[in-house]
Amino acid sequence: MRLVLVGPPGAGKGTQAVFIAECFEIPKISTGDIFRANVSGGTELGRMAKKYMDAGDLVPDEVTNAMVRDRLAQPDAKDGFLLDGFPRNVAQAGELDGILNELGAPLSVVLDLDVDFEEVVKRLSGRRTCKKCGHVWHLEYDAPAVAGICDKCGGELYQRDDDKPETVRHRLDVYAEQTAPLIGFYRDAGKLVAIDALGAVEDVTERAIAALTPYADA
Ligand code: AP5
Ligand code: MG
Ligand code: ZN
Repeated sequence: MRLVLVGPPGAGKGTQAVFIAECFEIPKISTGDIFRANVSGGTELGRMAKKYMDAGDLVPDEVTNAMVRDRLAQPDAKDGFLLDGFPRNVAQAGELDGILNELGAPLSVVLDLDVDFEEVVKRLSGRRTCKKCGHVWHLEYDAPAVAGICDKCGGELYQRDDDKPETVRHRLDVYAEQTAPLIGFYRDAGKLVAIDALGAVEDVTERAIAALTPYADA
């Protein structure tokens, strides 16, 4: 399955991506995670991306597109993949179509996680991420047993720099202006499947897997 996840910041793309990728045995490719790994690794790419990320803006398309092109050329993506956070505007969607046409492997489906803005603000303000294993927690909805410590690996939890309230507001505006038009784009292409992403994490996972199963061998 060649799958794209879309939805606003805080919709639960990263959370659901883990379960969906595991269920369908495909690699999870998250452009935000790749950028953050480059920031903490102090690479040239990370230094360049950081100023856009901290402001809540999109990293320029030519940089992001080249990064995704390289990643999709890796052998593990040959038989399918889950993209989380890419494409994020119509130009990137065009680029993805181009890459997949060259590979002779069109997109199977685009899953839209539907949540209202009030809920995403709550999800983002309580999000905490493990420094060591990357697991995503929530202070209220999915709290670790010991505050500030990851249950899975004992790592220290941190709040993402771009989860400050003023940056969150800007990210939501960027989503509405640049990313939301993708929903119409993929609907017109006959690729879109939307699910209600409100409710418990495991209920959303169940809905996602049920919606995606018909595309498993497409
Ligand atoms: P990115 O990392 O992709 O951030 P985002 O799109 O803003 O999405 P988030 O990761 O914030 O939200 P999510 O949907 O993954 O939610 P999560 O599962 O964590 O991008 C960051 C930056 O990188 C961008 O701003 C940009 O600068 C750059 N970038 C990335 N891709 C780019 C691209 N293609 N082009 C250009 N620039 C790019 O969940 C959120 C919280 O809610 C968690 O605490 C979780 O525990 C909780 N939660 C999840 N599900 C539920 C539930 N069902 N009930 C209750 N709580 C829940
Ligand atoms: Mg994410
Ligand atoms: Zn951890």
